Amino acid sequence: MKLFTNKKKLQNEIKGKKNIIFVPTMGSLHKGHESLIKKSIKKSNVTIVSIFVNPKQFNSKKDFNSYPRNHNKDLKLLSKLKVNYVYKPNYNDIFNFKTNNKIFLDKFSKRLCGKHRKGHFKGVVEVVNRMLEIIKPKHILLGNKDFQQLVLIKRHIRKNKIQTKVISCKTIRDKNFIAYSSRLKKLKKLEKKNLIRIIKVLKKYKKDIQSGNSVFNFTNIKKKVLHFGAKRVDYIEPINLKNLKTEKRNKFNLFFAFHIGNIRFIDNF
Ligand code: PAF
Repeated sequence: MKLFTNKKKLQNEIKGKKNIIFVPTMGSLHKGHESLIKKSIKKSNVTIVSIFVNPKQFNSKKDFNSYPRNHNKDLKLLSKLKVNYVYKPNYNDIFNFKTNNKIFLDKFSKRLCGKHRKGHFKGVVEVVNRMLEIIKPKHILLGNKDFQQLVLIKRHIRKNKIQTKVISCKTIRDKNFIAYSSRLKKLKKLEKKNLIRIIKVLKKYKKDIQSGNSVFNFTNIKKKVLHFGAKRVDYIEPINLKNLKTEKRNKFNLFFAFHIGNIRFIDNF
């Protein structure tokens, strides 16, 4: 495994290499990342993983500063997994050049997390756009847990005719159906217990709606989620994955974001 902090040196190293697969991360790696990386290594002999906690996608300095960072442990894991290259730049290395592309933010960015995290998706698309320009990978792997991010990156890529294909990857969950997430490390024991109960409630709610035993009602389900220990609910919305419209009957995923302990948890299933 080779570690690069400088984009020019990385570009020199990968010049001419085909079939590069890129896995962007903000570090604090978990089983979800591990699954993306293993998939990449299986598909290609050039896997590049980036570690960069991107300040532009955080709404507050406090949230940025307290984002879990565990870079030495991350590097050990990446080396164990036999990743070819790690790109771990500083802010200037990513943001000190003029990009070829105009940032395209599809209107889907205004919904769900977009309503509650001003500027977040613009920050995400900006950083990914720059990484793609530096690395020019054939594929980028992104997880379905952050489905809205995945759709917006896909649409930016399509609009700008960037020659990278997005591969969406299934969400990796623990035995309690909790999706792995870097922020989970910050939960206390009781908060984790409450999270497990909330996810159980949401899963049953979806099942009840789909079997016709219940009708989606935001106020009711929000009340339940708060009752089981969430501090605040940003949204719970049933959305059709194909047309991205609200769909209260058959084929939908329940998208949600709520605050628990000191974290904001999002997922969809
Ligand atoms: O999903 C993430 O960890 C980040 O949003 C990403 C894609 C690495 C961009 O900073």
